[in-house]
Amino acid sequence: MAIDYDRLTPVEAYEKKRKNIFRVIWLIVIALIIVWFLRTDWVIAHDDPVEHFKYGSIGSEGNTGLPTPILQALPVLYKDRLGPNGFGAFGMITEPGKDLPIGFSKRFTGGVERAWLNCSVCHYGTYTLPGSDEVHVIPGGASNDLELYKLMRFFIDVGNDPGFTADAVIKAINSDEVPGRLNLFERILYRVAVMPLVKNALHELSGQLEFVARQEDYGPGRVDTFNSYKVLQFNFPMGPDNISDSALNGSSDYPSIWMQGPRAGMNLHWDGNNSSVTERNFSAALGAGVSPVTVDVEALYRVRDWIETLEAPSFPGVVDPELAAIGEPLYYEYCADCHGMGGDDGFDYDTGRYPYLGEVVELSEIGTDRGRWESYDQDFSAAQMNLYAGYPWQFKNFKKTNGYANHPLDGIWARSPYLHNGSVPTLRDLMNPVSERPAVWWRGARELDLVNVGYRSDEAAGGTFRYDTSVLGNKNTGHEGTEYGTDLSDAEKDAIVEYMKTL
Ligand code: HEC
Ligand code: HEC
Repeated sequence: MAIDYDRLTPVEAYEKKRKNIFRVIWLIVIALIIVWFLRTDWVIAHDDPVEHFKYGSIGSEGNTGLPTPILQALPVLYKDRLGPNGFGAFGMITEPGKDLPIGFSKRFTGGVERAWLNCSVCHYGTYTLPGSDEVHVIPGGASNDLELYKLMRFFIDVGNDPGFTADAVIKAINSDEVPGRLNLFERILYRVAVMPLVKNALHELSGQLEFVARQEDYGPGRVDTFNSYKVLQFNFPMGPDNISDSALNGSSDYPSIWMQGPRAGMNLHWDGNNSSVTERNFSAALGAGVSPVTVDVEALYRVRDWIETLEAPSFPGVVDPELAAIGEPLYYEYCADCHGMGGDDGFDYDTGRYPYLGEVVELSEIGTDRGRWESYDQDFSAAQMNLYAGYPWQFKNFKKTNGYANHPLDGIWARSPYLHNGSVPTLRDLMNPVSERPAVWWRGARELDLVNVGYRSDEAAGGTFRYDTSVLGNKNTGHEGTEYGTDLSDAEKDAIVEYMKTL
């Protein structure tokens, strides 16, 4: 009998089986690591609440975001269009040492680092004082410089641009103007996977946002709050047969978001459509691009907690105490019932003392532009109620109202231009009847007018956008008549404005 020398001895056979089992275990472990890697999110944590607000992720990246290097490459690729300041062309602010502007946050998700928007893109104010170029910032104020309409159109055009190719993007990323470099493996990955996905996503976005071409430019400091949300979250049809031009042009001025705690229970948003602070925060997060699945609830709660007690900034100029003292009783008589006023410990938000604070004034009575009111309709309200379904924070409080809300006027000096559509440049202009308010003026200047209170609105101040009140959505009508103080004498109006500097 021939001996099979290749046959495994019992010991060898046992060893081999053991090795095979080990191999299988290894493969399972590696597969688990890959799955974990693809499913796990990493974010950079910021201890400081302001840094968290500026750069912290609330979870928009996984839903809408672009790989960070691609976002960083866009200003290089489209230098002709954006100029040397990159995203600064849209009024975004890049701080020294940062590789993306305030308002973009990063998250490592699905195996790639992506970046997209957070709350601060729209809620970060800036101003300068007369005679100085020093830029002061107001975290939680209104992003008065931000041109979101232009930014959206930019992304739409990129999505449709045949020149937005893997070659061009890789070249831009590997130029000296973008931090980081793609190695051979990453370049292959970009060609075969990343760029086709990104192109597809942007192309789809361009299609969804086609209606934006039918809108008037919002200009700096404003956005159409609900129309893009209708398409991006619910795929509402947005053709001319589906939505009127009037409902399509309802730009909102960015509001301040400080002191949300005492606003609990008030019917806020410009039209008073929601009385729950938590829901306003969640709804806002959707506006920044999160989805009910990607939202980072902990990160959002950190912002929420911070804006609960974030104090309104103090007026940076000099207040004439005698004039303000004349203004105070006038303000009390004409304005406080609807807007609240200063108390012993700062602003007094007591809805017991000020019975209409946080309530809605009917559109026919307040008489301001109807576009924003119209853009939020019953159908959309109904659809919203199903968002976040099954989560504890499912929307329950959204409703269609019949007008615009009476907001507390804390830090009102810093919330120019005024009214929901930002159609009136200064507080003093708002005290005048409509016929005496500027009909055409310049938006986008950073310098404050410390007398009339608000940003300067003359062309010489460097405004970037000609605001024409005859354009759809831009009316500066309403908030007019004896009840609103517009029939008072000039001296009385000056006194009320002086008093409002103290709020
Ligand atoms: C795309 C710009 C944008 C982003 C991003 C954004 N907001 Fe807003 N926010 C607005 C606008 C515009 C309004 C006013 C909405 C309206 O009534 O038309 C608003 C309203 C609010 C309000 C209600 C203010 C009031 O007094 O009625 C809160 C609170 C708020 N935002 C918080 C946040 C938080 C928190 C985030 C991040 C999760 C955020 N926002 C992200 C634009 C934005
Ligand atoms: C009957 C209630 C009512 C009275 C009285 C009233 N207002 Fe208003 N006010 C409103 C409403 C409603 C709005 C929001 C209108 C809009 O944005 O379309 C508003 C808006 C404002 C704004 C703009 C807020 C912003 O963030 O842009 C200012 C400033 C203001 N009022 C000041 C005053 C002053 C000053 C008086 C008194 C001289 C006064 N209001 C009297 C209801 C009232």
